[in-house]
Amino acid sequence: SIRAYHEKVIDHYENPRNVGTLDKKSKTVGTGLVGAPACGDVMRLQIEVGDDGKIVDAKFKTFGCGSAIASSSLATEWIKGKSVGEAATIKNTHIAKELSLPPVKLHCSMLAEDAIKAAIKDYAVKQESLE
Ligand code: FES
Repeated sequence: SIRAYHEKVIDHYENPRNVGTLDKKSKTVGTGLVGAPACGDVMRLQIEVGDDGKIVDAKFKTFGCGSAIASSSLATEWIKGKSVGEAATIKNTHIAKELSLPPVKLHCSMLAEDAIKAAIKDYAVKQESLE
């Protein structure tokens, strides 16, 4: 039941932060699209990186469970203002702890960690192709 969920999950689920889309074609935008084989849920997370290497914007769209939506919402809040390197150190365990996710929902937070990493990788590949 929904009552089994921590209030922070419900808050992010009901008022998700940073839902939306950034221009995938932009050289300053990195897009991560990941799926969880266990449940079929899908998460897209995008970052926009400024000249100083800091993440100036982040957006997500998650087609999945409430915990995955909350995890991606929290992830976008956390990575905004961080450098790409700092964002890469965010672990699913940090997200799961903040949201008090139960063990069966750990893979939902893993999706957010994977999505951050995939977005950073996409951004990095674009930068290499500019050199
Ligand atoms: Fe699979 Fe949450 S149940 S992402």
